[in-house]
Amino acid sequence: MKTGKGRIGGILQDDVVTILIILIREKMTSLFEEKEMSKRIVVLGGDGVGPEVCDVASDLLEKMKLGFEILKPPGGESAIEKYGTPFPDETKRLCGEVDAVLFGAAGSFSSPIIDFLRWGLDNYVNIRPIKYYPGVTTPLKDAEGIDMVILRENSEGFYPSGREGDISQLAEKWPDWKDKLLGKHFKDYGRGKFAIRIITEYGVSRMIKFACEFTKKRKELGYPGKLILTTKSNVLRESCGLVQRIAETEIKKHQDLSYEHFYIDDMCRRVLRYPKDMDVIVTTNMFGDILSDEAAELIGGLGIAPSACIGGKTPYFEPVHGSAPKYAKKNVINPTAMILSVKMMLDYFGMESEAKDLEKAVAVVYREGKHLTQDQGGQSTTREFGDAVLCKLG
Ligand code: NAI
Ligand code: MG
Repeated sequence: MKTGKGRIGGILQDDVVTILIILIREKMTSLFEEKEMSKRIVVLGGDGVGPEVCDVASDLLEKMKLGFEILKPPGGESAIEKYGTPFPDETKRLCGEVDAVLFGAAGSFSSPIIDFLRWGLDNYVNIRPIKYYPGVTTPLKDAEGIDMVILRENSEGFYPSGREGDISQLAEKWPDWKDKLLGKHFKDYGRGKFAIRIITEYGVSRMIKFACEFTKKRKELGYPGKLILTTKSNVLRESCGLVQRIAETEIKKHQDLSYEHFYIDDMCRRVLRYPKDMDVIVTTNMFGDILSDEAAELIGGLGIAPSACIGGKTPYFEPVHGSAPKYAKKNVINPTAMILSVKMMLDYFGMESEAKDLEKAVAVVYREGKHLTQDQGGQSTTREFGDAVLCKLG
């Protein structure tokens, strides 16, 4: 912008233009930030206890007055009667375009939702923190200080379902194929089923890169910077072997991190025996699924363990637990895992202080121990627990 060098009321005209530009930029920045803060979220309860924990968590989010637009499109088992599907097209479209999805659980009906959120949107990282909050019921004598994260590759391995079939199909398609150890052809196995585990260089590389960066960020926050890979490469030499090779090439680029590898069976034991020594554990899809349920028991069970599925088009946040059908519609289930998944969403948005407030409120409710759900030895309902957290937020 060209300006003359005249004077207006003693100020150089150039200065006026500069001041104006600064003011406009500041206004634009604040508008931009406001827009950035105002997130659009889809909440989908899914099946079983999913809707109950989602209702509590989304009510809390609403009451935090963060200016979020919270959408609750039809979905899950409650949508089937009216829409003939647990995942109407319009709901699916919304999930693809909002800033994040909060999801409850998929039981017998909502697999199409989880299939889309995980594989359709390519959320290949599943972050599963295992952190102990004093006051929570644990089988350990002293669980204080347990604070690890399991990073589960979320896009390949044995999942998603659908890569299974009859051994006879393999025998027909690959009559000459022999397994390396026994030298048997598929036809020699008789009647039965197979499952295929896919491990790609691309899938492993992106996961391991994420794990290294994630461990580094935790180290900056004061954690030890210790990454543990767990595989079964002593038996699954090709598939787990590939994971281990890629990981060990990548980890060499990060001299500031320490690295160890343990076989998954040994790892299951180590998580129980040395839980406080764990920092970040990275593993493949099914091992991560199983290991995180096991580890959750140390910190109070599945009612406590949250998760984030990120890396794809729209991130989504869900508890580690499933639809726990036995407890559905009884208002007794523990909503902590879902509430802490909301906390993870806030962290993801860069709203650390709000995330901390929410986590602190949950921690205080446990420390006081007056409003605990049945799984924690209390008598409070799902809703009462949520209200207690809200009280501590206020
Ligand atoms: P589950 O995780 O639903 O429940 C196992 C047990 O954990 C329950 O019986 C209960 O004792 C406890 N539990 C779970 N959530 C709890 C909570 N919020 N508060 C207190 N206790 C809680 O696993 P299950 O029974 O193996 O599977 C039930 C259904 O959920 C199946 O259809 C399964 O496929 C599905 N599932 C879905 C998942 C998802 O949507 N991400 C994850 C795991 C299972
Ligand atoms: Mg699981």
